[in-house]
Amino acid sequence: MEKFVILGGAKLCGEVNISGAKNSAVALIVAAIMVKGVCVIDNVPEVSDTYVLAEIINKLGGKAEFTDKGVITIDCTNLDCFEASYEMVGKIRASSYLMGALLGRFKHAKVALPGGCDFGVRPINLHLKAFTALGATHSVDRGLVDIQAESLVGSPIYMDQVSVGATINAMLAASLAEGTTIIENAAKEPHIVDVANFLNSMGANIKGAGTDVIKIKGVSELHGGSYSVIPDQIEAGTFMIAAAATGGDVVINNVIPKHLDSLSAKLIEMGVTVVEGDDCVRIIADKPLKKVKVNTMPYPGYPTDLQPQIVALLSVANGTSIVTENVWDNRFQYISQLTLMGAQITVDGRVAVIEGVEKLKGSPVSSTDLRAGAAMVIAGLMADGVTEVFNLKYIDRGYENFVQKLKGLGAQITRRTVEDKNEKQIIA
Ligand code: EPU
Repeated sequence: MEKFVILGGAKLCGEVNISGAKNSAVALIVAAIMVKGVCVIDNVPEVSDTYVLAEIINKLGGKAEFTDKGVITIDCTNLDCFEASYEMVGKIRASSYLMGALLGRFKHAKVALPGGCDFGVRPINLHLKAFTALGATHSVDRGLVDIQAESLVGSPIYMDQVSVGATINAMLAASLAEGTTIIENAAKEPHIVDVANFLNSMGANIKGAGTDVIKIKGVSELHGGSYSVIPDQIEAGTFMIAAAATGGDVVINNVIPKHLDSLSAKLIEMGVTVVEGDDCVRIIADKPLKKVKVNTMPYPGYPTDLQPQIVALLSVANGTSIVTENVWDNRFQYISQLTLMGAQITVDGRVAVIEGVEKLKGSPVSSTDLRAGAAMVIAGLMADGVTEVFNLKYIDRGYENFVQKLKGLGAQITRRTVEDKNEKQIIA
């Protein structure tokens, strides 16, 4: 078992380069299953989620490997298996994209129900509704979803709720359906646009991605090509918040500032200076932090995947902040860990009320999910004394070189196996 050991109090200063978007890369890697030919995808973050997906493609009979730093080469020309068992996919939420990709390619997919972070119920009814609209039938047996169609036929699909995953799955399957599909109430996240751009560059015909109506004219085949993943909006946001939390001055490079608007607006409201460049943002935090209200919403609203991080920041802001989680029904599990560090937070259903305290105190804490893990690191960076963050498997799913990047900004953080002795000496 490993842990991060953080000595709080260092101001983050300098520059950091943001990696490619994890949530986009996981969709693109799976989308490559539908392509007969070689796809070369660069700016892919080397995190456990992308490694696991490469492994799944190899097990299905395709070829996927990192051929250079951040470059994955995928050839699914001879991929011949449409069944992904629980042993293959249990670790990863994005495995749900296998349903759309395998269905598109083989008109048949058997995929174990997805794993990933646990924020309460994670239904797939909207994914299945989209496949049904395209003419597929499905059944579930021992956790394996079996979806098949004689042929996939384009159709209108209305999403009852905005869902990133269901929108991507519908785009995948519809790209290789006969005729035209129109997805209404589609998700608009940056990675939806990225998936559409990737598929279009491989021969698909998708219009409207990034708006709530996406029109897909099915094509009979997709061809190989090369593509570059967009920058990771959530990793960038995590560093913006970490800079603000430590009273730092950090330039965050390789970002699309527009994707960060909702966070920038909140930080500015809190008294942080945010300077936008063409592909960077600079965070200067030299004033006391003010309370704010945050409501998580689908894009372009404030992202749920930056909710734990801003709660950590608000735990030391002046006054009472209120954070409402509107996307997931149970994404406040990590708050008990923050309260171990002295944060004053109460949760009632989807609402967290945060009474700012002057300082957090270092403590052993656990990551309860990927973004909660990042929030624990942020809390540790600003706390008095030493914080140990356990359960790193979640953080490893989505943050590339997290420790190295933070160290590059002056953070006092190390990763070590739990048996290590003398950790205070090493960190000092
Ligand atoms: N929902 C349904 N039925 C469905 C699908 C979703 O009711 O069939 C509900 C969910 O329960 C949830 C809401 O719709 O309440 C939104 O879920 P969505 O489908 O948009 O989430 P997802 O596709 O499973 C992606 C990201 C998550 C991020 C959410 C919301 C990936 C791989 N995952 O998940 O990212 O929280 O969108 O933006 O893209 C993370 O990166 O830490 C992470 C969890």
